[in-house]
Amino acid sequence: MTPTHKYDVLIFGTGAAGLTLALQLDPRYNIALVSKGNIRSGCTWYAQGGISAVIDPEDSIDSHVADTLNAGAGLCRESIVRYVVEHSKEEIDWLIGLGVPFTHTEENNKKSAYHLTREGGHSHRRVIHCKDATGHALSRTLIERVKERSNIHIFENHIAIDLITAAKLNQSPQRVLGAYVHNKKSGHTETFQANKVVLASGGASKVYLYTSNPDESTGDGIAMAWRAGCRIANMEFIQFHPTCLYHPHAKSFLISEAVRGEGGHLLLPDGTRFMTKVDPRAELAPRDIVARAIDHEMKKRGLDCVYLDISFKPEEFIKSHFPTIYQNCLKFGFDITKQPIPVVPAAHYTCGGIVTNQYGQTDIDGLYAIGETACTGMHGANRMASNSLLECLVFGASAARHINSRKPSQEPFTVLPEWDESRVTDSDEEIVVAHNWDELRHFMWDYVGIVRSNKRLERAMRRVNLLAHEIFEYYSNFRVTNDLIELRNLVDVAELIIRSAMARKESRGLHYTLNYPKPDESKPPQDTILIPPTYRAPETYTIEDVSASV
Ligand code: FAD
Ligand code: SIN
Repeated sequence: MTPTHKYDVLIFGTGAAGLTLALQLDPRYNIALVSKGNIRSGCTWYAQGGISAVIDPEDSIDSHVADTLNAGAGLCRESIVRYVVEHSKEEIDWLIGLGVPFTHTEENNKKSAYHLTREGGHSHRRVIHCKDATGHALSRTLIERVKERSNIHIFENHIAIDLITAAKLNQSPQRVLGAYVHNKKSGHTETFQANKVVLASGGASKVYLYTSNPDESTGDGIAMAWRAGCRIANMEFIQFHPTCLYHPHAKSFLISEAVRGEGGHLLLPDGTRFMTKVDPRAELAPRDIVARAIDHEMKKRGLDCVYLDISFKPEEFIKSHFPTIYQNCLKFGFDITKQPIPVVPAAHYTCGGIVTNQYGQTDIDGLYAIGETACTGMHGANRMASNSLLECLVFGASAARHINSRKPSQEPFTVLPEWDESRVTDSDEEIVVAHNWDELRHFMWDYVGIVRSNKRLERAMRRVNLLAHEIFEYYSNFRVTNDLIELRNLVDVAELIIRSAMARKESRGLHYTLNYPKPDESKPPQDTILIPPTYRAPETYTIEDVSASV
């Protein structure tokens, strides 16, 4: 018998979204906070540049909204963008109150206002940060506060496999009942029961060979929600960050956009600046434009990388603004105070995800999605820099308010069936998983990357179908492991990305295809909504403004 855990709220994810939600939920709730790695796992820990917010009196909500809509290339939901931006100051004040050590400006050796940096697409300095390691500082503070709460129970090294819903048990009305969770230490699969389940499980950039993301970004929440019956939107919009360190051993190391925000130039190997010819905003154009320009130069000239130069700034300025980047590059033999940094684009952010409303509610009653795993309408076809952590905070708070405003359920928990392992055995062919994982990430990079075409997408679809078939068989016959659970999810997510990309017969934001190189101006821009066979519209609430379906 494996244990069955019973909680009021079950949260998958200990990044900015999950931690914010846990801390803002009413302390009367008994909460399980689950991470598939240690509590620091996920992207939040690695965030560098900072959090965008309207803090400077010279800045305005309208300006932040306008910049976000502009970067989002016609697909942001304006009401959501405004809602998020209007709550930006409140959430930053909350973080300051919790003790997040944001960087101050120094005037006459005295600390004064908070230092605000600039990043691509922003027409104003509005990114509050903790030097160049905002994620470490943010996570550390939130984790400390969570550990002080006796109603929050932390489960590390527990990976969710699938959601349990009423429909799966042939019951109605449809609602979420819990999830099956694999305990990586014991090797057993346990049942978690809860009235509310929240997916705060991050993005899916690990589906690509080269990524700025840590290993956990395998789109588990998106895949689980899809299998359970939630609609998934805008998966073709995968953001490639323009500048990751190019070095064979520098796995995933990002060079923050703030380096360009503070004046850094992108150069060809002969020292020529090229962004000035591409966009009037040059290096500070939105990311889709910069990443595509780098890709173009690399392919046209057969380059392995381009260069990012900040060395013309005073050494002290560089070391004090970018201590982490300075030290890390030095480890790989690059002194950024003296030489340009070799950089390449890499998959960075999943703009699409689980369709939600303003409270993070999904299509399944009781199931919420917040943070990078969700598609709220905030980012449209291209997320503006530093708007992600902001969205995590505002939607963490919004979902908490929504859950807090409901009466806790008095109904006894339904008895859920245990995870059934009676028909599976231990795998004798782990190599299949490793191979399929490599193959998937290679063809996604080659065929579904920065520049796409009908032919490349068709090729990718044929391969993903084969893999899906193989993985399904493997999954049905062998006991689950962390790698198998993640691979199954990656294959589902890859298929969703390819299907969405095939459905979009235009280029817009992050989706660029050689067959339709321009936006389709003949009709209003539309979201790509994929509807699973198990979808049922929720009966007691709506998810507004969903504009189209495939
Ligand atoms: P994450 O922080 O990714 O956390 C996901 C959590 O879900 C983890 O705890 C993981 O263990 C858990 N999880 C996943 N699957 C399962 C499962 N099956 N079972 C149990 N648990 C699971 N954005 C900004 O706004 N500003 C920045 O400066 C910035 N810098 C960045 C720098 C880097 C290098 C990267 C990679 C991203 C950066 N981003 C930045 C993006 C931003 O960090 C992320 O979008 C954001 O942190 C996502 O937070 P999250 O809470 O949604 O998920
Ligand atoms: C960076 O620091 O460049 C990352 C910022 C982001 O992804 O928003």
